[in-house]
Amino acid sequence: MNNKAEEVIVLGIESSCDDTSCAVFRNDKRLSNVVCTQKIHENYGGVVPELASRIHLQNIIPTVSAALQEADVKLSEIDVIAYTRGPGLIGSLLVGSSFAKSLSLALKKPLVEVNHMQAHILAHFIQPKIGIKKVPEFPFLCLTVSGGHTQLVKVISALQFEILGETIDDAVGEAFDKGAKIIGLSYPGGPLIDKYAKNGNPNAFQFAKPKTEGLNFSFSGLKTSLLYFVKEKQSLNKEFVNEFKNDLCASYQKTILQILLEKLITASIQTGIHRIAIAGGVSANSELRKQLVSEANNRSWDLFIPEIDYCTDNAAMIAVVGHFLYRNNQFSDLKVPPFARNTI
Ligand code: KG4
Ligand code: ZN
Repeated sequence: MNNKAEEVIVLGIESSCDDTSCAVFRNDKRLSNVVCTQKIHENYGGVVPELASRIHLQNIIPTVSAALQEADVKLSEIDVIAYTRGPGLIGSLLVGSSFAKSLSLALKKPLVEVNHMQAHILAHFIQPKIGIKKVPEFPFLCLTVSGGHTQLVKVISALQFEILGETIDDAVGEAFDKGAKIIGLSYPGGPLIDKYAKNGNPNAFQFAKPKTEGLNFSFSGLKTSLLYFVKEKQSLNKEFVNEFKNDLCASYQKTILQILLEKLITASIQTGIHRIAIAGGVSANSELRKQLVSEANNRSWDLFIPEIDYCTDNAAMIAVVGHFLYRNNQFSDLKVPPFARNTI
């Protein structure tokens, strides 16, 4: 570990999907975190990779400038540049990684590469500018739930992870988004299902839960059963979805959350670990957060739920990992290409 006592200014860049984001940190403290979300994909029911890359190109310089300005930090004061190397959409990653590499060359400052999924987990270590936030002790379990991944991870240290289980098909965020599309909601559907479910009856309809080995997950069968259920009902009543939108959302969401919670509880029992965290876009789900708090009370878990700003994609989580990597002298080579797929 690099024990340099001096303060380190980290510039973090995230561009793995459809959010262009830049954050400036002093050590693990957030000075700024600017996220520029691409609204255009709402028109297409999902992220269009080619459009995402082009918009990252337009947004990256203004986003970096805004983050520096908000932090009141000059380019010349940056000590290290951290960027998302993967996983994600390759065109989107190329924009952020090329920008980070160019900046590293121009400023003659070191570069560190960050794994997006690790960053979602380590978002729990982001400290506010003023004050100190409680962070999880190691080891802890993290349920990482995003648009691209669903994993149960044993976090052994800031840079050591063991995957205990993961999805064998769709990610849970995809299950939310594809389910929402079937119900006629726009992209991203997760927050909309969350919203309509609040006024619905979660026991109105039953959907079968998949049987998966060990701590693995599966969501594609659930999505298909929603599709067939809706089609059958619509053949009898064209207005079925409109009339029962809230109940459909609540019942579908309930099944997704049951799948997640059953595996999380099993993982905690099997490992004997009671420090539990969630991470990723789906951890913004209000019902998931509520149910986790109640499970934590019943099971004496030490629970860590991220602030809403750190659930979905953001560069603050990239910068905080950048700080850990810098302290550990884990620098990156300009030659390494981004990668679209891998776990942690
Ligand atoms: O972590 P994230 O921003 O991007 C990826 O790395 O994939 O996650 C995006 C996913 C989307 O599938 C979105 O629908 C889901 O997170 N999401 C939610 C909620 N907010 C975002 N899902 C359920 N309830 C929410 N409130
Ligand atoms: Zn993400």
